[in-house]
Amino acid sequence: MSFSFLITGGAGFIGSNFIRYVQNKAPNLKIFNLDSLTYAGSFQNLQNLSNPKNHHFVKGDICNQDLVESILEEQEINTIVHFAAESHVDRSLQGPDAFIKTNILGTFSLLEAARKVWLGKKDFDRNEVRFHHISTDEVYGSLAPDEPAFKETTPYAPNSPYAATKASSDHLVRSYAHSFGLPITISNCSNNYGPYQFPEKLIPLMILNALTGNQLPIYGDGMQIRDWLYVDDHCDAIWTILNKGKVGESYNIGGGNQPPNIKIVKTICQILDKKDLPSGSAPHEQLITYVKDRPGHDRRYAMNISKIKNELGWEPKYDLESGLSTTVDWYLNNLDWLNAIIQEKDYENWVDLNYQQRGKA
Ligand code: NAD
Ligand code: DAU
Repeated sequence: MSFSFLITGGAGFIGSNFIRYVQNKAPNLKIFNLDSLTYAGSFQNLQNLSNPKNHHFVKGDICNQDLVESILEEQEINTIVHFAAESHVDRSLQGPDAFIKTNILGTFSLLEAARKVWLGKKDFDRNEVRFHHISTDEVYGSLAPDEPAFKETTPYAPNSPYAATKASSDHLVRSYAHSFGLPITISNCSNNYGPYQFPEKLIPLMILNALTGNQLPIYGDGMQIRDWLYVDDHCDAIWTILNKGKVGESYNIGGGNQPPNIKIVKTICQILDKKDLPSGSAPHEQLITYVKDRPGHDRRYAMNISKIKNELGWEPKYDLESGLSTTVDWYLNNLDWLNAIIQEKDYENWVDLNYQQRGKA
């Protein structure tokens, strides 16, 4: 019997990086990529795969349980890696509906399909299948300056509609393990950055705006803290959990890089200042503009990664300096990708809507 992966959301930022990662680690593995190609998903993210023959794209919605069941049955899927989600906090503040549908109902649909197809088999062997759910540190809420980093045992306290839907999906996944014996693992990860990230998130947005001479909008005082992780490190952590993780467990993943947002943005400006760019915007820090804060903005995230480090031997390889410099170079070397994404995805309308709501501080 041959085994295959079902990767949901594989045309998005982390999912597409994960497909590249897996194709390097296991070139013969068959991958089925189920993605509905929302504004955040694109074929542009899946160009130049090392083994395109083993990547099978299925355009479809994870909420379509019949479709998911047929993929699981017909393609002998033994591993589901579930990335598909609405992922942007600002969008969840403007319209939570799609977040409820995809993040909660979509996860429910996948779980039900796995329950029916996998657990329904007479010769079901729980050691042969795995449902891995990709989640976020935002489920734990916000930390005060002197509070210790989030552990896997930290109580959930999601603050945004996005975080609440991710928390809800985590609970559903956990309940399917407890109630039905579905072999699951969950990972809760901090902020990712790197190639192919849609330019609505902080780092690619700042790079794009600096290159085009537009303002660099800093929400509130810019002293909010995230725990930044280079996307390859996240992919490596997921692969480690799939291979060595204990069924039923959750693992925190983080980068240990925790400067305030304003420091990140200034570092990007300094990296760009050193390049010979035609934008004429250097020094790029002059573009920094403080704008109204995000409502309910979480102040600080930090991940305690002792569990995955001690039990599975994973730790991040990139520090922020090398990760940011690699990322800026990637965007500069892939301006065609950036232009294609902006044109394909109704980008200007989103930017306008976001700024109408924010204005200047
Ligand atoms: P993304 O927004 O870049 O990509 C999401 C992908 O899911 C897109 O390709 C989109 O088309 C697809 N999708 C959305 N709704 C769908 C549906 N109903 N059916 C099928 N496909 C659908 O997201 P990302 O940043 O790559 O995040 C991937 C996962 O990782 C998400 O679950 C997110 O919550 C989690 N996560 C992200 C980060 C981060 O910093 N980006 C950190 C921790 C966890
Ligand atoms: O922590 C993990 C989460 O990280 C993931 O679960 C989410 O999917 C992902 O979007 C990300 O959420 P954030 O809200 O932290 O990411 P974002 O890039 O939107 O913002 C990072 C920080 O930068 C946050 O404090 C808000 C701030 N910010 C963001 C933008 C887009 C600005 O100051 N200006 C901006 O223009």
